[in-house]
This record gives sequence, structure tokens and C-alpha cells, in this order.
Amino acid sequence: MSLPGPHRIVFANEKGGTGKSTTAVHVAIALAYQGARVAAIDLDPRQRTLHRYLENRAETIGRRAIAVPQADFAVFTGDSIAALDALGEDVGADHDFLIYDTPGRDDDFARHVATQADTLVTPLNDSFVDFDLIGQVDAETFKVRRLSFYAELIWETRKKRAMTTIRDARREMDWVVVRNRTQHIEARNMRRIDSALTELSRRVGFRIANGLSERVIYRELFPSGLTLLDKGHLGELGTSHLVARQEMRALVAGLKLQMPAGAAAAQREMAFAADGASVQA
Ligand SMILES: Nc1ncnc2c1ncn2[C@@H]1O[C@H](COP(=O)(O)OP(=O)(O)OP(=O)(O)O)[C@@H](O)[C@H]1O
Ligand SMILES: [Mg+2]
Repeated sequence: MSLPGPHRIVFANEKGGTGKSTTAVHVAIALAYQGARVAAIDLDPRQRTLHRYLENRAETIGRRAIAVPQADFAVFTGDSIAALDALGEDVGADHDFLIYDTPGRDDDFARHVATQADTLVTPLNDSFVDFDLIGQVDAETFKVRRLSFYAELIWETRKKRAMTTIRDARREMDWVVVRNRTQHIEARNMRRIDSALTELSRRVGFRIANGLSERVIYRELFPSGLTLLDKGHLGELGTSHLVARQEMRALVAGLKLQMPAGAAAAQREMAFAADGASVQA
């Protein structure tokens, strides 16, 4: 059964700098590449990272007169839940996906969109400092000692969401913790985070997906608003960028989103997969 309205993907983590905006932009553009109609709302009117990235992209598209997929975007500057809902209705109309990027702090509007998420994405740097926001680990054994305030909050949100009937007979919220800025040279730390996350995921009920690894290119592309998928517009790229592109595809695949049907989507999907299967991460 197809449900009315766009599929809402909310990027949230109360901790700052965990990669919400970077991951949100890359997911938005990757989905647009697959033929989906994507809209994105930035809930951080001060920082506006997502909004600025997509604005830069729009300018590059105009300046270079190039045809690359783009997401529609807006920034929320209002001061009420009603205004936020109205913006969501407006911007999300006639789109397949509505993406919300939220600020790295406790925020009423971020909480509100989290309750409406079909997919809630929490990016996390591979560090126990970030992990602390979800659960606390024992200093000696690295076993999870207790859930943090944030995990409890999402747990409550999900419960509330399961009981609510505001948006029809609801899809369940899929909570995905995405590991960002992973570095393979940190094998021991990675393993420890891995087992702590796995333990926590069972207790709290989220899935774990691999996100983007640590790469300068993710920072470098911001001024142009381009992404690694914009082949032919990036200049010379080494093999590591092919691996990075594959990483973006794996990230989107890990979110397990239902893509819209249709020929345009199928065509774009081919472009999206055009590097071939030989590139391994
Ligand atoms: N995979 C990555 N590789 C390299 N740099 C990254 C990566 N992901 C994010 N960064 C950089 O880390 C910083 C924080 O990322 P970002 O702005 O996406 O986090 P955020 O969670 O949205 O932050 P805030 O909570 O302040 O909104 C930025 O400088 C960004 O360019
Ligand atoms: Mg941000």
C-alpha cells in the first residue's frame, strides 16, 4: 500500500558536528540521482549548512549551465510548530522524499520532526565521545552501562509515534545510526565502537549502517555544492574518489528506502550505478 505524502527522513543527533548536514546533503543528491523528487528543510537558521550547500549547488548549476539532479530546499525560520508543519506541507508537496536536517542541540522543532520521521538517521563519529550521547560505556570493559537521555528520548518518541494517528495508519519509524568519518587505521577503536553499538542497537532498537569515511573531498566540495556523483563536473579524480562514490551508494542502500517506480527512476539508477561493480571499498 502506498502512503500519502513524502517519506520523511530526519537527520538528528543532539551532539554537534557528527555529520548530520554532510550526510543529509549526500543522501538528498543520491536520491535525486535515482530519479526521486527530493525536498530538504534546514532547521538550523543560524548555521544553515544544508541550505547553503544546496544553494551553492544551485549557483553552480546556473553558472556552469549544467544539468545535474538537484533537491528543492528551504530553511525554517519560523517560531511555531504550526509554521513548521505548514512549511513541511508546502515544501514536501509533490515530492517523494522530504529531508530534515536538524541542529546539533536539543531543539523543540527537531523533536517535533523526529516524531514524524519515517526514517530517523543519527550520524555518529567513530568515537566514544559521540557514542556517549546514545549510551554510556564501562571504562574497563567497554560494555554499555546505561542509555543516555537522547536514546531515551528517541525511545519515547517512537512509542508516542506508534500510538499516534496524525498521519494515517503509520509506517513504523526506522531508526538508523550511521557511522560517519570512519578511519580504517583506527582498527581497535572501530572494533570497540562496533561491539558497543551492536549491543546498544539490540537494547534500543536501531539499525547500524555504514556512512562516509573520513575524506577531505567531503569538505572540499561544499563551495561548489557538488557531490562525488556529479561525474564529469569534478575535474580529475583519483581512484580513491571512485571508492568514495561507492561509499555514497552504500550509504543510501543502507537506509533501505523505497524508491518511486517509473522509467525516469530506472534511467537515473543506471547512471547512479555506472562505475561498475569492480570498485571495492
Ligand atoms: N566524512 C567526512 N569526512 C571529512 N569531513 C567530514 C565528514 N563528515 C563531516 N565532515 C566535516 O565535519 C564537520 C561537521 O560536519 P557537519 O556540519 O556535517 O556536522 P553536523 O552534525 O551537521 O554539525 P552541527 O551539529 O553543527 O549541525 C564539517 O566541517 C564537515 O565538513
Ligand atoms: Mg549541521
